Amino acid sequence: MIMSAISASAEIVDINTQASSIILDATPGRPLQFLYYGPKLSPADAAVLKAAGGPRLNAYPAYGMTTVSETAIAVRHADGNMTLDLNVESVKRDGHVTTVTLKDTHYPFAVDINYRTWPDSEVIETWTEISHDEPSAVTLTQFASGYLPVRFGDVWLSSLWGNWGNEAQLEQEPLTHGLKSIKNKDGIRNSHYAHSEIMLSLDGKPREESGRTIGAALCYSGNYLLRIDTDHSSYHHFFAGINDENSEYHLAPGERFETPVLALTYSEEGTGGASRNFHRWGRAHRMAHADRERKILLNSWEGVYFDIKEKEMAQMMADIADLGGELFVMDDGWFGPVYHRDDAKASLGDWTVDTRKLPHGIKGLTDAARKRGIRFGIWIEPEMTDTMSLLYREHPEYVIEEKSHKTRYGRGGNQIALDLGNPAVQDIVFSIVDTLLTKYPEIDYIKWDANACIKNHGSAYLTSDNQSHLYIDYHRGLARTLDRIRAKYPDVTIQACAGGGGRANWGVMPWFDEFWVSDNTDALQRIFIQWGTSYFYPAIAMASHISATPNHQTLRTIPLKFRTDVAMSGRLGMEMQPKDMTSAEKDQCRKAIAEYKEIRPVVQFGDLYRLVSPYDRKGVASLLYASPGKDKAVFFWWRTENFRNKQYPRVVMNGLDPDRTYRVREINRIDRKPLAFEGKSFSGRFLMSTGLELPVTHDVPADDRTEYSSRVLLLESE
Ligand code: DGJ
Repeated sequence: MIMSAISASAEIVDINTQASSIILDATPGRPLQFLYYGPKLSPADAAVLKAAGGPRLNAYPAYGMTTVSETAIAVRHADGNMTLDLNVESVKRDGHVTTVTLKDTHYPFAVDINYRTWPDSEVIETWTEISHDEPSAVTLTQFASGYLPVRFGDVWLSSLWGNWGNEAQLEQEPLTHGLKSIKNKDGIRNSHYAHSEIMLSLDGKPREESGRTIGAALCYSGNYLLRIDTDHSSYHHFFAGINDENSEYHLAPGERFETPVLALTYSEEGTGGASRNFHRWGRAHRMAHADRERKILLNSWEGVYFDIKEKEMAQMMADIADLGGELFVMDDGWFGPVYHRDDAKASLGDWTVDTRKLPHGIKGLTDAARKRGIRFGIWIEPEMTDTMSLLYREHPEYVIEEKSHKTRYGRGGNQIALDLGNPAVQDIVFSIVDTLLTKYPEIDYIKWDANACIKNHGSAYLTSDNQSHLYIDYHRGLARTLDRIRAKYPDVTIQACAGGGGRANWGVMPWFDEFWVSDNTDALQRIFIQWGTSYFYPAIAMASHISATPNHQTLRTIPLKFRTDVAMSGRLGMEMQPKDMTSAEKDQCRKAIAEYKEIRPVVQFGDLYRLVSPYDRKGVASLLYASPGKDKAVFFWWRTENFRNKQYPRVVMNGLDPDRTYRVREINRIDRKPLAFEGKSFSGRFLMSTGLELPVTHDVPADDRTEYSSRVLLLESE
């Protein structure tokens, strides 16, 4: 690879996408200064940028010489000194990667700050590489991936918070003085309680389609820390990186410490524009097989839970095939040759079939799937073991545990995480997948689960000096293992599941095709969860399943039509026992699946326009996906509150071509009579200025009426 050095006199470094620029002052021998992030600057404006005033802030503030402000990096040198004084040494461009190398003025200590752009994406990725040539290890106590100053003003933060079963709840608030931190310390799963992505709306309260908006996503599977310090200066100071708490890192001479990517996007089309930027970038560069339509699947979990039996598996496969589905996934409960997996107490680690349940093994199931014309998928939780397992009995040293205190266990009272920083454990995790896929090459899909956090901070593999490497090494081990799996099995579909939505993070998506959004399959609550998730993730990443009613998590009774209309707005699947459905329900599902196949390319590859937010409590929520060429769109509308004579808003669409005419067709229709506008054509201009008046009830027989109402409309340009 040829590295071309920018001329030594160059001071201004511009990093450009088609529509945005980051501008730095990289004068050699001086601190790297951040000058600008915003719409792409013309060369003329860039030339006079400094004269306009603005930030001349250190682009990667280090602790030591300045001690008052928040910093991006802090270290303890080999000699115990705690200061850093970093100046620009050089700037290099290698294709679309720009690297500014900073060197300490005294110590042989360097930080490379990298920026990567993509010709087709409105995202700038930044990350750092830290190295040194000191006589012995330097301790890194803070190591952010990046820092961004944002001019003080009426800046609003959009972030996602939540809990198991209630993930990705959208919260929007003005930034006020003080330090706002968003963090994760689970060790393994990192998106149940908070997300490592934010948006900053620079023009006051966030608007969907207008207003300057910065989006930031830390792409890391482990513990993270996002900080926004609104201090005495005229800036909000944003830092993002690995959570350094209990994670100081001893960097050996010559070793390079690479921080995870922080993806930044800028949009003048509000939070909607920032979301679309993330979706396009993610689909193009940061998730597996994003150009491949996802199969419609039935997952066994809520249908049979641990009660896996060959007969039921065969019946479920027959049912999903009959409904038009394309894949069956056997969830938890199939393994455990000695300690049986009849509940959550045993056998994680022993990935051999329980022949009491499956006398013909996995081969019997892949044969059955093939006969039905569908594909077969399987659940594993390879990063974990149970104390009641052969693996734990043979290798107790492979778990994360310390021996001085009574060990704390997770799910089922016996679950414990494997020490994935240990190469021997990486081999085991790799071989779990390798063995399955070698023995049963017809396995098409893996649901990769992770249901525990790190407890009992302790690794038998790490030296006592390096116990603080545990969290970071775990995720390096995970990345290495997933790299090996993907090198050998590039085609298999892999879902990231972590006790529901615990791994909705761009950090894992390069290896995964999708994530399980939440263990909560209640359609009404899913509207809120999926809405929040959509701020950063495209529909193709969001596994969204029709489940039984009353719902197993909320006990709410929701009609099939509404459940289906919500699941269809993501990657459609089913999560129930189809044999419990009536034949009328099966007919309805069969029709819905057939129609989803028609809208699937628009939902999975289209651009998202959020129209009415469920969080605004207007009684409805609505969104639209438009195909990249704007020749097709799918409009979703769900009534989220039902009050007699409530005035619901008429929803105005977006993302269409004003000059085209779109014919309207209702998908998943249950009404006896078609809607007034069925088959009629409207201009994009009209649909985006006025919209269609949707009846808030369904025209169905009295006995079928419920409190729920929803619509899916396909718009096709003529
Ligand atoms: C948690 C997952 O989120 C569920 O979908 C299911 O796979 C269970 N684990 C199985 O134990």
